Amino acid sequence: MAATGLRSFYSGKNLFVTGASGFLGICLLEKILRTIPDHGDIYLLLRPKRGKDISERLEEIKKNQIFEVVLKEKSVEQVFSKVKAVAGDVGQDDLGLSLNDRKLLTDNVNVIFHLAATLDFGDTLKTTVDINLLGTRRIIDLAKQCSHLDALVHTSSAYVNSWRLQADEEIYPCKRDPEELIATVNKLTPEELEKETSRILSDHPNTYTITKHLAELEVQKVEQLFPCTIVRPSMIVGSWKEPVPGWTISKNGPQGFFMGASKGVIRRLPVGKHLIYDYIPVDIVVNMLLAAGFYVAVTKPKKVAVYHCTSSTRNPFRWATVEDNINDYLHKYPLVSAVWYPHLKLLPSVTWYKISAFFVHFFPAIILDLVTRVSGGRPILMKLHRNVNTSLDRLEKFIFTEWKFTAMQTMNLQDWLKDTDKTDYTLDIGTLVWKDYFVDLTLGSRVYLSKDPVRTLKAAKSKEKILLTVHLIWQAALFLLVWYLFACLIGTTMSSSIYVLPVIFILYMLL
Ligand SMILES: NC(=O)c1ccc[n+]([C@@H]2O[C@H](COP(=O)([O-])OP(=O)(O)OC[C@H]3O[C@@H](n4cnc5c(N)ncnc54)[C@H](OP(=O)(O)O)[C@@H]3O)[C@@H](O)[C@H]2O)c1
Repeated sequence: MAATGLRSFYSGKNLFVTGASGFLGICLLEKILRTIPDHGDIYLLLRPKRGKDISERLEEIKKNQIFEVVLKEKSVEQVFSKVKAVAGDVGQDDLGLSLNDRKLLTDNVNVIFHLAATLDFGDTLKTTVDINLLGTRRIIDLAKQCSHLDALVHTSSAYVNSWRLQADEEIYPCKRDPEELIATVNKLTPEELEKETSRILSDHPNTYTITKHLAELEVQKVEQLFPCTIVRPSMIVGSWKEPVPGWTISKNGPQGFFMGASKGVIRRLPVGKHLIYDYIPVDIVVNMLLAAGFYVAVTKPKKVAVYHCTSSTRNPFRWATVEDNINDYLHKYPLVSAVWYPHLKLLPSVTWYKISAFFVHFFPAIILDLVTRVSGGRPILMKLHRNVNTSLDRLEKFIFTEWKFTAMQTMNLQDWLKDTDKTDYTLDIGTLVWKDYFVDLTLGSRVYLSKDPVRTLKAAKSKEKILLTVHLIWQAALFLLVWYLFACLIGTTMSSSIYVLPVIFILYMLL
């Protein structure tokens, strides 16, 4: 068991965090600010974006709703007094740091949390190599120059080994050599590179997993130089408990489905409902980053410590567990901004989904977009559904493959923590009840993604009654239309072709 506690280890430590404006990074920042009040300076690597410079971006971070809990106790000035923005970009040489900032970091930083990455599966190989592979190499170069470094915590992904159906907490070799890959992406034209990409990816499903895999090998190369650790989360989902259940800013995964489903826009979801989906709440990943950094800094292992921050082998989730309740969750927390009566149904394949989506997504989208256009708004639904269809092709492998990630080292780390840390920085998801978790996630996606505060629930419930009436009328009209078309087609009256109604009903139920 640890001789000191996690909180006392981080007290006075200066931290360098990349990716702090992202989903995981902002949650890590919040946990440090809320639970480790004696932390040292926290340097955040930020890049200017969408016309905002780094000081504006820092102000934006401070305004995130995640800080509401800690700001109940303290003022903004108190909470953020030691948080400093540093201008940089992991995709640029020397991280795009000024000489002064580089010196500030190398003289002072004790623990580096490297989270910055591009997660876009559709990004080109050139971009992902620049950010995920070379970005990590540049962070390591900085780490090598730090005079007081206690630990480097690198955030990877469980899916770097997605070519194996079962992966352990070890680093597997990659078929591609990083130097060759870097040379190739710099040599080929964008068109040539696009043609070559699937050959280069080899066992990897996309540019993200291969570059994150190679980034792990970069960390492994320096395992003898300073304590380092690799944390591999699976699919990160909204928080389980902290700072509030259901907090999220990520629209990826179930919270994004719930956001679209509550609007009434997403009505079908292709999933293998009996397959295990490896979801891990963001607050557990944050605890893992802090605990892993603490552990390697204290024990100084000579090999990089790898941790699976995953649920598949510890508390597996299957959509079948919540299938019968999903619509209850949606009706418990309806949206004031819903455009159709919410009803989500799970379908067993992408093809089935696409057939069904043609009727239940695209038809209503045409009507709703038309209404929006007539009332002077910007129609978006058709575009949204087309984008969903395209991204499903890219994601199909991930949706219909079951992976198992063993997590012995993670469980050992949980055992190693002091008793108070076992609770305050728990890595144990054994007691998470997925049904309860999804209720919180539905509310979280309502409040934090759709920005519908709890006080609008009453109005939303009233609106839902109207939407239900419209939905029933729409369904009845569709039935009548199909029945009428059938009667016309076979040249008979509607009353003499009434026998077709059960057939229409069965077909409708299949959609
Ligand atoms: N989300 C998941 O399900 C998941 C699962 C497994 C592993 N991970 C890993 O967890 C880490 C964080 O992911 P996330 O979910 O928080 O992603 P995210 O919300 O997309 O955040 C990505 C972060 O990286 C920063 N970033 C991207 N390119 C950068 C660059 N060139 N220079 C500096 N910063 C850059 C972004 O900054 P800007 O705001 O400037 O864009 C943002 O802060 C990543 O390493 C990811 O691979 C995530």
